[in-house]
Amino acid sequence: MNRILYPAQSRYLENLNKESDPLLEEMETFANQNNIPILSKDSAKFLELLINMVKPKRVLELGTAIAYSSIRIARNLKKKSVVHTIEKSADNIPIAKENIAKSGFQDKIIIYEGNAVEIMPTLAKKYDFIFLDADKADYKRLFDYSIILLKKGGVIFIDNLLWHGYTAASKVPSDMKLSTKIIREFNKGFVTQPKLKTTVLPVGDGIGIGVKE
Ligand SMILES: C[S@@+](CC[C@H](N)C(=O)[O-])C[C@H]1O[C@@H](n2cnc3c(N)ncnc32)[C@H](O)[C@@H]1O
Repeated sequence: MNRILYPAQSRYLENLNKESDPLLEEMETFANQNNIPILSKDSAKFLELLINMVKPKRVLELGTAIAYSSIRIARNLKKKSVVHTIEKSADNIPIAKENIAKSGFQDKIIIYEGNAVEIMPTLAKKYDFIFLDADKADYKRLFDYSIILLKKGGVIFIDNLLWHGYTAASKVPSDMKLSTKIIREFNKGFVTQPKLKTTVLPVGDGIGIGVKE
């Protein structure tokens, strides 16, 4: 199981929402060839739309990978807005930096190198928008820090809450059991978090959106 949407509808929507950006296409191919998980195209478009609606001044991203989503966020930010993005992988950081340089958004994207679990408690200033896309085992802790770092009225955007369909499946393969259990527990905590208004949408791999009250 790895689809939330049937292939025909998925293909139709992809064609309908077609876009062409050589750098993003190059990054999509690189991620695909090197097994680096990045936001699906539909989730990325949705994220970009939300950035345009919320118009955040300060965005925090947890999980940069090769900076695909960082660039998609940055290209939709207003003039003085920035995205701070945290990445722990020594393999991914240089690739992310190279892509950011190619994108021309060096002044908008600031990479924090290290584990978000350690970096987040050192961040003093709050954010208008937080995108959580890190290791699932870290989700709960990063989410708890995010609630603290999110401004009132701020938006949190979380990927993978349908976890390739497994969170809703009755049968889960043994190698996916632990991660599925983690995401299922996370989802229960997410939709009942008293400081947020939330929903989980069947976009991409399942997107959780919360607004801080
Ligand atoms: C799913 S990828 C991020 C994809 C990226 N947001 C995109 O859509 O283009 C997850 C990334 O988060 C990083 N990561 C996972 N847990 C982390 C943590 N606790 N702190 C910092 N980085 C983390 C991984 O090394 C990986 O590069």
